[in-house]
Amino acid sequence: MNYWQTDFSIGNIKVPRFISGPLDGYTDSPFRQLTRHYSPSALLYSEMRHVASVSHDNGAKKALRFENFEKPFSFQTSANSTDFIEEAVERLLAHGITSVDLNVGCPARAVVASGAGSELMANMETLEKIVKLFRKLLPIPFTVKMRAGFKKKNALEVARMLSDNGVDALAIHPRLQSAKFSGLLDYDLVAQIKKEISIPLIFSGDVRTIDDARMVYDRTGVDGFMIGRGMQGQPWKLKQLQTEALGQEFKISQQEIIRCALKHLDLLTKHYGDHGLFNFRKHIPFYIHDFEEAAGIRKELMVVESYGQLTESLNQLI
Ligand SMILES: Cc1cc2nc3c(=O)[nH]c(=O)nc-3n(C[C@H](O)[C@H](O)[C@H](O)COP(=O)(O)O)c2cc1C
Repeated sequence: MNYWQTDFSIGNIKVPRFISGPLDGYTDSPFRQLTRHYSPSALLYSEMRHVASVSHDNGAKKALRFENFEKPFSFQTSANSTDFIEEAVERLLAHGITSVDLNVGCPARAVVASGAGSELMANMETLEKIVKLFRKLLPIPFTVKMRAGFKKKNALEVARMLSDNGVDALAIHPRLQSAKFSGLLDYDLVAQIKKEISIPLIFSGDVRTIDDARMVYDRTGVDGFMIGRGMQGQPWKLKQLQTEALGQEFKISQQEIIRCALKHLDLLTKHYGDHGLFNFRKHIPFYIHDFEEAAGIRKELMVVESYGQLTESLNQLI
């Protein structure tokens, strides 16, 4: 069996090479259910939620609602101190999630200003305390997702510390906080971390095609690939990559794309009630992409105000 055919271990679970990463506003339960339909065993991530909200009985309610078949399901959380972690972990464990991921990479201004996300990479002392507490409390896999660094690239130093503290796997988006989600990716830094750290390393950044994944593997030797924006409007993306990695062709018809969009709309409405219809609008441009007259179709769909009318319009496209 070659590299692409084998799973890799994160703590006591084994997962395929391609993972659906956390995307706030996108990787909610409806999206994960669609992804699961195509990829029966892939690791799927939640959106990020702060431990303070996870710790309250009324907090993060929608984010914590998931179907059993979404598992393996990693819940991503953020923290800026050790406050609320104990209560958050208790609630997460009660919900039966597969693993917990700590966000140490978010570049958003509000998150960074509170001392969470990528700012923690510049505050190793606090980060270590947070990680030690999670590790002590979690009997399930515990992972961290980070960046190249906050203002300076210290991912290697952070990775060593995380590995020494029993973190089960690391995901890295090798850009500084200021680069947000664009600009050059530092493959050499990732290769260096892979060489020095023995826990599994997952690459996150601009992987959309099998050629991207092969190039990243050749340059870094990472264990897995986390797909973010490449999943948008393409919940079949992990299956596509896995299929193409085996040298087989993957095709999806425009009819199936629309059927998938219809299912998405249905799941969003079940999950969010009436708000599901408006939530669906942000997904429309991603689904209606390579269609003839895509711009016109998108424009029409974006203004539809009722579930019935929207499903009818989508059905007409089929
Ligand atoms: C809209 C959006 C939301 C994101 N939300 C999260 C998040 O909640 N947690 C996280 O760790 N990363 C988040 N990210 C970062 C992605 O997980 C990923 O690391 C980054 O987009 C690079 O990978 P990609 O090129 O495959 O998208 C987000 C990125 C985008 C564009």
